[in-house]
Amino acid sequence: MRVTIYEVGPRDGLQNESVTLPVEVKREFIRRLAEAGLTTIEATSFVHPKWVPQLADAAELLADMPREPGVRYPVLVPNERGLDRALEHGVTDIAIFGSATESFAQRNLNRTLESQFEMFAPVVERALAGGMRVRAYVSMCFGDPWEGPVAPEQVVRVGRRLLDLGCYQLSLGDTIGVGTPGHVDALLDAFEVAGVGPDRLAVHFHDTYGQALANTLAALRRGITVVDASTGGIGGCPYAKSATGNLATEDLVWMLDGLGVETGVDVRSLVATSRWLADLLGRPSPSRVVQALSKEA
Ligand code: HMG
Ligand code: MG
Repeated sequence: MRVTIYEVGPRDGLQNESVTLPVEVKREFIRRLAEAGLTTIEATSFVHPKWVPQLADAAELLADMPREPGVRYPVLVPNERGLDRALEHGVTDIAIFGSATESFAQRNLNRTLESQFEMFAPVVERALAGGMRVRAYVSMCFGDPWEGPVAPEQVVRVGRRLLDLGCYQLSLGDTIGVGTPGHVDALLDAFEVAGVGPDRLAVHFHDTYGQALANTLAALRRGITVVDASTGGIGGCPYAKSATGNLATEDLVWMLDGLGVETGVDVRSLVATSRWLADLLGRPSPSRVVQALSKEA
């Protein structure tokens, strides 16, 4: 068995840090991630620079970013203005990001739940016509800070519409990290009933309640083979109250190595990168594997 890790550190990780890193440090971060064996690295976002100032340098970053053969560097794109900017910089892979709830659609996208689809439709249409690959996220799949628990059927309704636009994959986001493994099963059941199998799905867990790794294992047992993670466990969403870091890539690789599941990623190389990054961000990595392997070093 092989699992593909979709690395989100440079995007989800850095979008929520209080320190904005210089562009050359971001390039070095991305270079190190590829060197450690990651083959999908979400590099940045073409969102409104005032909404996420930490990633306002997206154009500058991409203009001179080291690109390794065989590595994909997707970027987040919410709307046509974002797509225009991505096209100007030779981007080949984008991700749109929808919300399963009304409250988060309004807070994160300044759109209603319904009108988010009107914003995404021309983005996906134009991107596909231009030969791009388009992924979709759906956020608040397990719970929402304003609305509480979110019904699996509501997530499936939104996810189905995003896939129907022509996206190749749907990443199920536990934006505030409240899900547990039984909930993961229930959501995957609901997708199965709707005709969406694990080959079209990825999982994206934030680790607020320490459940991200257990949730990932539950998803792997259901046949999911694409897992989002952030090196060092940094991350969160500035527009989601109580969101904390993503599942740490090191924690994921440690578990998969133990299970004999191939990822092609060297955990010790990632730990060295997280330690380097922690100094620059001014805070230690929350990853238990980073902490444990740092003591060994
Ligand atoms: P808006 O204010 O409604 O935008 O924001 P608008 O369409 O009304 O346009 C207003 C002005 O902004 C216009 O300029 C546009 O050109 C400009 P003006 O004509 O007034 O001079 N503008 C832009 N400029 C640069 N790039 C753009 C862009 N779009 C408009 N792309 C918008 C709507 C969607 C842009 C805004 O709400 C936004 O940027 N939101 C992004 C928030 C965000 O990045 N959140 C974090 C990522 S999502 C996440 O972390 C969750 C995830 O990890 C999964 C999970 O964990 O669940 C993916
Ligand atoms: Mg996220």
